[in-house]
Amino acid sequence: MKKILFVCLGNICRSPMAEFVMKELVRRAGLEGAFQIDSAGTSDEEFGNPVHEGTRSKLRAEGIPCESGKRARPMTRADYAAYDHLIGMEARNVRDMRRIAGGDPQGKISRLLDFAPRPRDIADPWYTGNFDDTYRNIDEGCRALLKKLREEE
Ligand code: 4NP
Repeated sequence: MKKILFVCLGNICRSPMAEFVMKELVRRAGLEGAFQIDSAGTSDEEFGNPVHEGTRSKLRAEGIPCESGKRARPMTRADYAAYDHLIGMEARNVRDMRRIAGGDPQGKISRLLDFAPRPRDIADPWYTGNFDDTYRNIDEGCRALLKKLREEE
């Protein structure tokens, strides 16, 4: 069982999108039992809030289920011990995750598009309003991540 935590700033736009895209890719690959996938934020600003409508409508358009009960929660130091891979959306998330975790002694923290051929940040749709762009980046990153994890098996 591989445990993956996707992390962004608010846990309402990007990391829940990554959570549900990855769950769908894993489901389509018939690997549901092999993964536990969740998401969290580095800030508690959106604590308890549901997934942003921009993310929900984009997932709906792509035919990807979005769990209606998902609520934003902040990442904690305990998450560092509980998950095998903690994956941020941009360099700022990675910095904040390292601060929350007290470093990264086990090398579990990375940035999603570091798994892709062209490593880069995923811009925050909270500011850009472009959820199509966010989805393309997240889909690319999740596919690359799943490929790497399967190769490790
Ligand atoms: P996310 O987007 O990190 O992709 O969930 C944001 C959501 C909320 C805020 C910032 C980014 N905020 O400042 O409240």
